[in-house]
Amino acid sequence: MSQIAVMEQQLDAIKEEAKKAFKNASDLSQLDQERVKYLGKKGALTEVLKGVGKLSPEDRPAIGKIVNKVKDDLDRTFKISQAVMKDKLGLLRIEAERVDVTMPGRVTSRGYKHPVQNGLDELTAIFTQMGFDIAQGPEIEDEFHNFDALNIPPEHPARAMHDTFFLKEFTDRPMVLRTHTSPVQIRAMQRFLKEGNEPPLAVVAPGRVYRCDYDMTHSPMFHQVEVFKVDRDVSLANLKGVLKHFLSAYFGKELPIRLRPSYFPFTEPSAEVDIGCVLCDGKGCRVCKQTGWIEVLGSGMIHPNVLKSVGIDSDTYSGFAFGLGVERMVMLKQGIPDLRLFFENDVRFLGRMGS
Ligand code: PHE
Repeated sequence: MSQIAVMEQQLDAIKEEAKKAFKNASDLSQLDQERVKYLGKKGALTEVLKGVGKLSPEDRPAIGKIVNKVKDDLDRTFKISQAVMKDKLGLLRIEAERVDVTMPGRVTSRGYKHPVQNGLDELTAIFTQMGFDIAQGPEIEDEFHNFDALNIPPEHPARAMHDTFFLKEFTDRPMVLRTHTSPVQIRAMQRFLKEGNEPPLAVVAPGRVYRCDYDMTHSPMFHQVEVFKVDRDVSLANLKGVLKHFLSAYFGKELPIRLRPSYFPFTEPSAEVDIGCVLCDGKGCRVCKQTGWIEVLGSGMIHPNVLKSVGIDSDTYSGFAFGLGVERMVMLKQGIPDLRLFFENDVRFLGRMGS
C-alpha cells in the first residue's frame, strides 16, 4: 500500500472514532476534552500531519487537502454536537424548573379570635355605638375600689358573698383579685373628675374578674362588662331603655325583658334583669327551667354613697349601673352548654365557635 493510502486510512479511522466520541460525550466539558484529543495542537490529527514530512514533495499537497477536509468535517461535527448538547441541557433545565400550576396549594390552618374575646368586642361595640366611652382598671385591686367605695364596708356580709382571692404578697395594704368590674366605676369617675370634668359621664368597662368558684357554670377567672351612666335626672326608665336596646342588639332579635327586685350594696334600688328565653322563645325549656325567663345581669340605680365616695353630689346627680357576665352571654347566644369549654383550649371547639 502506498504511503498516502496508509495515511488516508489512518485519517478515516480517526474521523470515525472522533465522530463517535463527539456523539457519545455526556456533557459539554467531556465534549471539549474530545475536541482537544482529536483537533487540538497535540491531538490525533496533528500527529498524522507530522508524518507528512516523510512523503515525497509531490504527494504532500494531496494529503494536505485530505487532512484539511477531515479537519473541516470534524469541526462541523463538533459544533453540531455542541449545539445539540446545549439544546438538550436547556430543555433538561426547563423540565427541571417546570412548575405544576394545577398542583393544589398547601393548606394552612387559620387562627380564630377566641369566642370570649369575640363576645367582649361585640358587647363593647354596642355601647360605644350608643356613645359610651371605654374604660379599664387593674385586675389586682385594693379593697377600697373593690369594696369600700362601692358601699361594702369591711364587716358587710356582701364581702363574703364574693368568694374573693386575697393576695398575701401585699402586707402593708390588703390587695385582692377584683371580684367584679364595678371598681372601674369608681376609677373612671375619679379620673373623670380629676381631669376637671362635670357629668354627664357614660362608660363601658370590659375586663377579667376572679372568684374562688368552679363548676359547670362558674370559672375562677371570667369576664364582665360594666356599664354605667351619671348625669342629672338619670332614671330607672333610662336604665330599662338602654338594657332593652342592648339585649335586643346583642341577641339579634326583639326580646322581652323584666326587672326583678334584688340587692346589691352599690345600687338602690337594685334589680336582677331577665330576658325572654332565647332558646325556646319563652315557651319553657331545660335552659330556662320551664319558666320562659333567663337571668342575664345585675343592675340598679347607683347608690348615693357610691357617688359620695368619689365626691359627686348625689342631690344633683344620679346614675344607673349594670354588670354582666360575658361567658354567660356568649353561652346563651351560641347555645354552649358548659362554661369550661371556653378555657380547655380544644381547637375543635374554638375553631367552630370563633370567627
Ligand atoms: N358587680 C355586680 C356583680 O358582679 C353586678 C352589678 C354591677 C350589679 C352594677 C349592679 C350594678 O355581680
